[in-house]
Amino acid sequence: MKKFNNVIVRRPCKAMVEGITSNPELGKPDYELALKEHDDYIEALKQCGVEVTVLEADERYPDSCFVEDPALITKNCAIITNPGAESRNGEKDEIIGAVKKFFKDEDIEYIKSPGTLEGGDVMMVGDHFYVGRSARTNEEGIRQLTEILERHGMTCSEVKLEKVLHLKTGVNYLENNNMLVSGEFITKPEFQKYNLTVIPEEEAYAANCIWVNDTVIVPEGYPAVLKAVQDLGYKTLTVDTSEFRKLDGGLSCLSLRF
Ligand code: GLY
Repeated sequence: MKKFNNVIVRRPCKAMVEGITSNPELGKPDYELALKEHDDYIEALKQCGVEVTVLEADERYPDSCFVEDPALITKNCAIITNPGAESRNGEKDEIIGAVKKFFKDEDIEYIKSPGTLEGGDVMMVGDHFYVGRSARTNEEGIRQLTEILERHGMTCSEVKLEKVLHLKTGVNYLENNNMLVSGEFITKPEFQKYNLTVIPEEEAYAANCIWVNDTVIVPEGYPAVLKAVQDLGYKTLTVDTSEFRKLDGGLSCLSLRF
């Protein structure tokens, strides 16, 4: 099934070495290697049949390659979020231009302060959106998102996060009722209706896979997850994301897919 025609990515900037991380023990990202991994990521996306819009690196925002956070794109509207991380908040103003190439002004909505929301906390399952209440996404942000989605014929429900940064750090939907779950999401009542693939603790990072037009892109180096996804019947591609992992980033964080 072809669902996505377009993807937006932003090149990593040199300042990424100063990006936010909860895993400083992994070390600073190697910028040159990050660029190579980003090239491979773009190539994998192209193999999935999408047109990739590549935005220039923005040295003002160390985490700006994680374009999933400042915007949420749905089939009926685009939503410019209001990132809860202070050093990332300005990224929302820099993604608008790219979004406007695909959406008319009247179809672009905005999360406004005191509401905060980051796209990494939002998981799309058909016309329903699960949104994680996290350190980055607050109650008011979720209220505004719910109101916007309902106005555009979609629905939303909140998932409380306990440990992870973003909702999609630990749970990702692969279409066809298939969902990858790790850690705190394995027993969440709202996810029990899906065909759950439980990710082993030692490969928890790889819960962040992305479905793109019937291919699933899996981070390189997680054999149990790769096999589990292949056993579900998906064609797979792998991309090394080692340098983005050092900033708590994964495959979904690096693109807007629509
Ligand atoms: N380093 C990505 C983030 O914390 O948002």
